[in-house]
Amino acid sequence: MQARALGSVAVKGRRVLVRVDFNVPLEGGRVADDTRIRAALPTIERLRAEGAVVILMSHLGRPKGERRAEWSLAPVAEWLGGLLGRPVPLAPDCVGPVVESLAAALGPGDLLLLENLRFHKGETENDPSFAAALAALGEVYVNDAFGTAHRAHASTAGVPGLMKEKAAGLLMERELEFLGGLLGTPARPFLALLGGAKVSGKIEVIESLLPRVDGLLIGGAMMFTFWRAQGLRTGRSLVEEEHVETARRILGRAAELGKTLLLPVDCVAAGDPAAGAPGRVADGETLESGEAGVDIGPRTRELFRERLAGGQTLFWNGPMGIFEQPAYAAGTLAMAEALAEAGASGATTVVGGGDSVAAVQRMGLADRMSHVSTGGGAALEFLEGRVLPGVAALAP
Ligand code: 3PG
Repeated sequence: MQARALGSVAVKGRRVLVRVDFNVPLEGGRVADDTRIRAALPTIERLRAEGAVVILMSHLGRPKGERRAEWSLAPVAEWLGGLLGRPVPLAPDCVGPVVESLAAALGPGDLLLLENLRFHKGETENDPSFAAALAALGEVYVNDAFGTAHRAHASTAGVPGLMKEKAAGLLMERELEFLGGLLGTPARPFLALLGGAKVSGKIEVIESLLPRVDGLLIGGAMMFTFWRAQGLRTGRSLVEEEHVETARRILGRAAELGKTLLLPVDCVAAGDPAAGAPGRVADGETLESGEAGVDIGPRTRELFRERLAGGQTLFWNGPMGIFEQPAYAAGTLAMAEALAEAGASGATTVVGGGDSVAAVQRMGLADRMSHVSTGGGAALEFLEGRVLPGVAALAP
């Protein structure tokens, strides 16, 4: 997966069409989390400093080809303008004669944000004529949208296929360096901590990582599918019955490979998780039929923390419990702290995937990680060992 670096293309005085991932959460018409916007700033600033004409394009949400006001990129244009200290004009659309004349009127260092790409069906369908209309807007193509690199859409796969000069943006490069480092020759011990609700969404990533890691630590609600596979009590916890066999197979595979696969030894159990009332500590022998596991327990926190402290490369995806509820956040917080502490002692720490990223951010620990990926699905697919279409399309 070789992509040309940003520095290798001449951009001065040229129109550079930059695919960014500004698919950010909005609340009340305002940007609620600007991580992805901030992450694209280095590329934007660098292009402007080099005298490029910067034309940004992104999707927002899934409007499925319909122009819908709630999915307009207007709040993003405003937010970006605030971050850059100058207004960012938003084009009324992303293709067509009006947009073309707006793009043609820009000078070096100027910026234009195109309206939501997904207002056109041609984006997700990777329609060749839609891709050609986008490509006509620029002379150079840059992809900095790692979070969307797993989509073979017009702006990520079609457009670069039509443009001679193309490069990876600085964020894309950083993502590929850190996530690629996990698949390459990570400093050892290399440990992966996986959480989240369902094992079904993590099977491929577990299969890909298991032979590469020195240890795999599993928490989050998916632990209960493993507990069930081990014949332990799971009460009303989320168990994917159809994947109990998968969990058993993963346990067997870990043993075959001689890899440590650590499962929680206790959990926080609650009768009514939605109420958020403090739970009690239980384990696979004592969890009652009316209780659901909502977090990893204190002994597990200690066990995982000790293990993680011995790692040189740590990857984390997925929360350890229902961390949105303060009463069930201790496990996730402890793991975020454990990674931060390991990082302070020299380990490389990489956090990937939506919820765990939200967790480290909410806990104010994002700055203490070596890398927090802006990709959810894209980061996981990359670690599954798949070729991401948006990255493949950047090959020289
Ligand atoms: C994401 O948020 O994961 C990316 O922006 C891709 O969005 P999508 O899942 O709607 O394609």
